[in-house]
Amino acid sequence: MKSYLKKILPLEFKLYLKNNKAFISTVILFESLYDGINFVKYSASGVNPSRKSKEMLESEMIFYYHKIEKGMVMPNPRPKFGIKSIEHLIKLLKIYVQKYGVTETANITFKCLNEYVIFNSNLGEEVSSVETEIKKLRQIEWNNEIIAGAKEVEKSEILGINSNFENLAHSRYSLRDFSGENIDIDLVEKAVEIAQKTPSVCNRQSSRVYLYKDKENIKKLLKHQNGNRGFGHLADKLLIITTRMDHFVGSSERNQHLVDGGMYSMSILYALHSLGVGTCPLNLALDNSSSIKLKKDAGIGNGEALLMMIAIGGIPEKTKVAVSNRRHVKEVLKII
Ligand SMILES: Cc1cc2nc3c(=O)[nH]c(=O)nc-3n(C[C@H](O)[C@H](O)[C@H](O)COP(=O)(O)O)c2cc1C
Repeated sequence: MKSYLKKILPLEFKLYLKNNKAFISTVILFESLYDGINFVKYSASGVNPSRKSKEMLESEMIFYYHKIEKGMVMPNPRPKFGIKSIEHLIKLLKIYVQKYGVTETANITFKCLNEYVIFNSNLGEEVSSVETEIKKLRQIEWNNEIIAGAKEVEKSEILGINSNFENLAHSRYSLRDFSGENIDIDLVEKAVEIAQKTPSVCNRQSSRVYLYKDKENIKKLLKHQNGNRGFGHLADKLLIITTRMDHFVGSSERNQHLVDGGMYSMSILYALHSLGVGTCPLNLALDNSSSIKLKKDAGIGNGEALLMMIAIGGIPEKTKVAVSNRRHVKEVLKII
């Protein structure tokens, strides 16, 4: 139908439509509505756990076991942290194993749950509800060799980065502990200079980096973010990465700024890492009303999309990081 209309409509009319604000706005709204409908249809939102697909259950389990990993690497970990989430994770694991058996994700989840019990017992705390469930789950045959949870790394390991991209990528961790060292603004400037080499659609370079250095201001801004509890206060500086929407035109480009901004954010993370600066990306998955409030406090215009915050600081001599196991290449690479 669309291609038929394209053929029969006179060029003048097509040009008129192309430049007509009301027409373009309507198309963008419809396209965005379609995105929304698709997201409602295909995302895991509101799906009953017993009806969740393997991929849905796995990503939910990863979400919850990562909470355990993160909780255990905090500078001042809280005993019995996240107990409700952990009970929920056990439920998910049971449903999952019954349906799909003991896969890698199940093994990692079980290992993290075990580590949670050990972590609490080292702090002299009993988590009896979890322990009882773990005891029952021990009857299943797990792979005990798997490494998951928290691990200790030394600064020298993180800094052994240069030479090639493989080493650089493998030595970067999201740090949730910082040394207290002052990060020179020149280093951030250098990182931005490096990140400027990031490809962007038609080289439009819509990404922007906001650097916050005042501690009180950082504290205020971090209150808008939901994933920095227990370590955000240790960051020396805070970055917010945005993309300008006014660099994009038309309905087909409605998501392009997110692609460009995501790529740019990754470059900033690698660039800072290559310069020996510790980083932790912080999600800005916010509803519109919260986004607007954050933008107001951060001095960011409404025409910019918020990509993420990045907490930055010095790398401690020794610290704990979340293992954050990755999926196998064969799960991710589809050769067709
Ligand atoms: C967009 C984005 C948002 C993130 N948000 C948070 C966050 O709010 N809090 C946090 O502690 N980690 C956050 N992370 C870090 C991830 O947990 C981490 O990248 C992942 O577990 C992989 O571990 P690694 O970065 O150490 O390799 C975020 C990462 C990304 C890419």
